Amino acid sequence: MEEYLNKGIKDVISRFPKVADILNEYNIGCVPCSVGSCLLKDIVQIHNLSSEDEEALMTKIAKVIYPDRGIKMPKIQRKTQPKSREIKYSPPIKKLVDEHALIKKWLVLIPAVINDLNIETEDGRKLIYDGVYFIRSYADKFHHAKEEDILFKYFDENLDIIKSMHEDHETGRGHVKAIIEALERKDKKALIEHLNGYKELLMGHIKKEDDILYPWMDRGLSLQQVGELFSKFNEAEEKIGKEVVERCERFVKGAEEKLLKKQKEEEKT
Ligand SMILES: [Fe+2]
Ligand SMILES: [Fe+2]
Repeated sequence: MEEYLNKGIKDVISRFPKVADILNEYNIGCVPCSVGSCLLKDIVQIHNLSSEDEEALMTKIAKVIYPDRGIKMPKIQRKTQPKSREIKYSPPIKKLVDEHALIKKWLVLIPAVINDLNIETEDGRKLIYDGVYFIRSYADKFHHAKEEDILFKYFDENLDIIKSMHEDHETGRGHVKAIIEALERKDKKALIEHLNGYKELLMGHIKKEDDILYPWMDRGLSLQQVGELFSKFNEAEEKIGKEVVERCERFVKGAEEKLLKKQKEEEKT
């Protein structure tokens, strides 16, 4: 049975597809993960299952792998003990979660941006260019850089969960490049495709970080590391500059007001 605990989850799922349904029952979405070679035994730790849930999950998986034999999965030796499932972020991680909140405010506006898209006017194009400035400056140069250059360095970057986050950041950069190119050649179809692609990707990415990655990281950080992270994040904030952050915050607020006002006017007519 140990053999399966040390196997990549995608291998286990491809041999025993029912395992994916069992993981889904416990809100463990391994199937959409682009990397997916996390070991079965790591999944329990990363997702912070309680001892009872771990036992129930493992019993169900053992029944799928060995339907005719009453084999039980051995208890997994954890590096950190399960804590309450209620998420309490440490102060530096909370900063990242708050940044996600601003990024999401822009992402949820994207359907309205598409609905109102007019690339023939300067105003119409400006909204897209400003949105790209926000993504490149705030979401990428500021937020993703804090993750890639600071936070992720405290962990083994060969772990699939971190590789998968890097891949999402890269895919996002590809969408942003494609948005600019589509705008320059006035290709509305491609522009819509990549605006939607970016929105879908980042929404899912943020959820994975807020619900799984950050809590798992918080459980592994020592008090001293939490303090270090907090000061390194402060330095990153100083480096990008208060004016850039404020400009980005103003942009999202302004876009929200403008698009929501337009929506209300359209509802009246
Ligand atoms: Fe990220
Ligand atoms: Fe993030």
